Parts: sequence; structure tokens; C-alpha cells
Amino acid sequence: MGIYNHNNFKKRPESYWLASTSDTDYPTLHQDIEVDLAIIGGGLVGISCAYLLGKEGLKIAVIEASRICKGTTAHTTAKITSQHGLIYNKIQSNLGNELAQQYAEANEFAIGEIRRIIQINGIDCDYIAQPAFIYTQDEKYIEKIRNEVKVTSDLGIKASYVNNLPLPIDIKAGIKFDNQAQFHPRKYILGLAANIHNDDVKIFENTRVVDIEEDRNYILTTDKGKKVRSKNVIIASHYPFYNKHGGYFTRLYPEKSYIVGIKAKEKYPGGMYINAEDPARSLRHQNTDDGELILVVGEHHKTGQSENTNKHYRALLDFANTLFTIEDISYRWSTQDCMTLDGVPYVGNFTTNTPNLYVATGFGKWGMTNSMVSAIVLRDLIVEGQSPWQDVYNPSRKTIIASAKNFLVQNFNVAEQLIEGKLESLPKNIDIEPGEGKILKIDGKRIGVFQDEEGTLHIINTTCTHMGCELNWNSAERSWDCPCHGSRFTYKGDIIEGPAVESLKTDKDVNTIQKLFKDDF
Ligand code: FES
Repeated sequence: MGIYNHNNFKKRPESYWLASTSDTDYPTLHQDIEVDLAIIGGGLVGISCAYLLGKEGLKIAVIEASRICKGTTAHTTAKITSQHGLIYNKIQSNLGNELAQQYAEANEFAIGEIRRIIQINGIDCDYIAQPAFIYTQDEKYIEKIRNEVKVTSDLGIKASYVNNLPLPIDIKAGIKFDNQAQFHPRKYILGLAANIHNDDVKIFENTRVVDIEEDRNYILTTDKGKKVRSKNVIIASHYPFYNKHGGYFTRLYPEKSYIVGIKAKEKYPGGMYINAEDPARSLRHQNTDDGELILVVGEHHKTGQSENTNKHYRALLDFANTLFTIEDISYRWSTQDCMTLDGVPYVGNFTTNTPNLYVATGFGKWGMTNSMVSAIVLRDLIVEGQSPWQDVYNPSRKTIIASAKNFLVQNFNVAEQLIEGKLESLPKNIDIEPGEGKILKIDGKRIGVFQDEEGTLHIINTTCTHMGCELNWNSAERSWDCPCHGSRFTYKGDIIEGPAVESLKTDKDVNTIQKLFKDDF
């Protein structure tokens, strides 16, 4: 018998990718500098861009707010695949065959390019070739699966229709992509970063860019007050923090998913899997020093819009329990993705009016190949002025208007969150358990309170420093999450992830409230 029990998982979330690799220690930027290219963000996109553009002889600074590869890349499932759900039929229908062809070619090319980079740089990152499957247990999806096989085959991807899986799941239909792969994303990025960091390509950590000014060149200001002058700038910081142009905050929305890493009695049969319907379920395995880890992924919802985040881990464990005899629940963590309106990332010029300012964002849940594609597209745009895949990824693509309905729905949801957070009625009592976070309204003020295990209260102003939405408590991750654009903060108010560039406020009014709490306790 396995040990499966909802209470058996670790109290604190921890990503296996982070737990199995060392911290980095690149310097902080302590002086003004001038470069050819400034890359904001040291994740998979930022480091891949630095690698490719460093080879073109550019002087580059990669500027990371925290430590490199600790954000989205450290929390992904890390499937290197051109199989992005049922996307090809969708792109062909919405954007046309030519752009669907570009997307297919780009992502197929990226699989080979990642393999090539690993080989020529000798990066030890647990890379193994794996087939990727999409399956359905719902009759309504059988026709969609058939269509996807036809469209992907027409686009030149080797895809086959399957009736069963190597896993013990009864399916109605499925698709198999051969020649896909998986790896350890942090081992890959840390290996690549070590390879590129030299006199011309420099990585700076614990350096947050808080503003971009447009002059003859761009001038970036960091949180330490230092300036970076650069002709070219790539914003690769996941959700773009720069709001002066492009209106990205109206056309990107953040979505959260959950991962549990389990050990099972049965041997994992190999392969990477995802279902076509909701609730999302995705699987892969990872060989570790401590045996085989099975990653079970899914349960997506908009960031900051789920009341009990722990229930998502339980749902994944319930699903895993139907497939395996669970012997250990070793890891659990969550991830946050930026979603675009039509499902295709925004990669290219930030806007048509901001020359030499570039962006790569909105990978949905498919960041491995799309990050590599981004690096190739941006290298080509910067060096050659054009890319064969620029149209499908163009952030200003005209076809995005075809997603107008979705656009309005997403904006309506953000506006709703902005207003709802201000008007909601909140409890005034201060009953709070150690390890618990709560939103209270005291003297008309909405405040967030977290009590740590030592009994210390941590009180923050729940107004997001990005654009003023009201934050919600995330019980599973012990963080304050913004339902509008996905900024996340620790219980002390420090930024976990942007677009916010300022910590939460704990002003003097809040200190007064803290005193009231102490009196009451
Ligand atoms: Fe935009 Fe919070 S992330 S308002």
C-alpha cells in the first residue's frame, strides 16, 4: 500500500529544480555602464538571448532582479516539445496557414537547437529524448484530436493518432509526437550562463530595473540608482513591467498551475503527457539521485483568484493516486504563466514606435521551445533586421484583433478585480492562527495580516504597487498575489515576481494598526 494521504505532503512548497541545484553568485551592478544590449531578466529567454547575441560580438549586460533562473524557469515542467496542446488547428483557424507554418517550423527547429547547444557546450542537464502525448477522455474532443493530427501533419510535424497510452489511463483518442525531449531546466541554464559570463557578456544579479528612459539610446535605472545606457534593450522579465507603451497589461493575464513530485511503487513507463480538456493534467518523470520522481501537473486558474490554493495540490494527488501507488510525496510547487489573447507569444519589437526595444513574453505553458525561438527571433531582428518567424510572433500583429472578444473579457476581468477588491466586505475580527494570512478591514482600511510560527504579525498594505489592484492571500505559497497582472509578494511585502517593481507599503498608519493588534492580543 502507498502512503497516500492529503496531509502527507510537505508544508512548504519547494521546486525540485531549485532543491537539486546550487545558488548562483553573480555580482550586483554597482556602477553606471554602457553596453550594446541590455537584457532585463535572467531566465531561459534572457540567458539564451545573451548566448546567441554574445556570439555576434555584442557587449551585453543581463540584469536580473533576484538570482538568475529562480523564476518561471525554475518552476516549469520543462518539456522540450513543439506539442503545445491543440494549438496548430487554433493558429491555422485564427491566424491562417502561413503563420501556423511559421509557428510549427520555429518550435520544431528550437528542439534541435537546444539539443545542439547542450552538445557543443557539454552541459550536463539530464536531457533525454521522449515522445509527447496529448490525450482525451472526453468524446467531445475526439474530432478535435483528429483535426489536430491532420493539421500538424500537413505542417510537417511527425504526429500520429493513438488509441491508448503507455500509462494506465483509458482514453478516447490521443496524439503522439516523436523526437521530443525533457531536461533539468536549471542545470541547463546555469551551465549556459557559466559559459557566457565573460568580459563582454556580463550577468548582474540582485539588480532590479525600475525605469526605462528613451533618449538617443535607452537609459535603464536600477533600484540601486545606477544607470545602464544601451542602444538595444530586451525585456525578458516574464510579465513586462514597462507600462509607457504597448498596453501589455491589457493583453496579458497571469495563470497559476500546480506541480507535485511523487515517488511511486510502479516504474514510470516513459513519455510526457497532457490532456486536452479541463481540468488540466500533465505528467513527466525525472531521474534523481534518490530514485525516480514523477511530476504531476495541472489545476490552472487565474493568479490571485482561487480562495483555497491548497485544494489544487490535493486534486493532483487524487489524480496521481488513480495511476500509481504513491510511496512518497517529495515535492510540491506552483508556477505562473503569462497568457496572450490568441495563445501565441509576443516576441519582437515592443511596439512599432519604440525602435531597438524588444520583448519576449506570453509563452502560456510552453516556455521551453518558445524561449529558444524568442532568442533566435530577437537575434535575427537585432542583427539582420528581420526574422522568418517575425509575423506569427509579432507583438503588434493585426490578427490580434481577431481575439477582440477575448481581449474584452480579460480586461473586464481585470477591471472587475480592481473594483471588487476596493468594495468587498471584509471581516473585522483578528482571529488568526500561526501560519495563516487574512485580509481585514480596520477603520476603513484593507490590510493584510500574516502570523508566523513565532507569533509575530506581519502587516502589509494590500494595494498592489503595480497599478493599484487589491491583493489576495495565497494559502499554499504563503504569498500575497495580485489578481490583475500576477505580481506576487512575500508575507513581509517583498516582491516575489513582477510586473510590480516596488515592495508593498507598511506605512505609519499600518504601524498604528499593528499596535492595535498587539493591544488586543
Ligand atoms: Fe498589476 Fe497588481 S500586478 S495591479
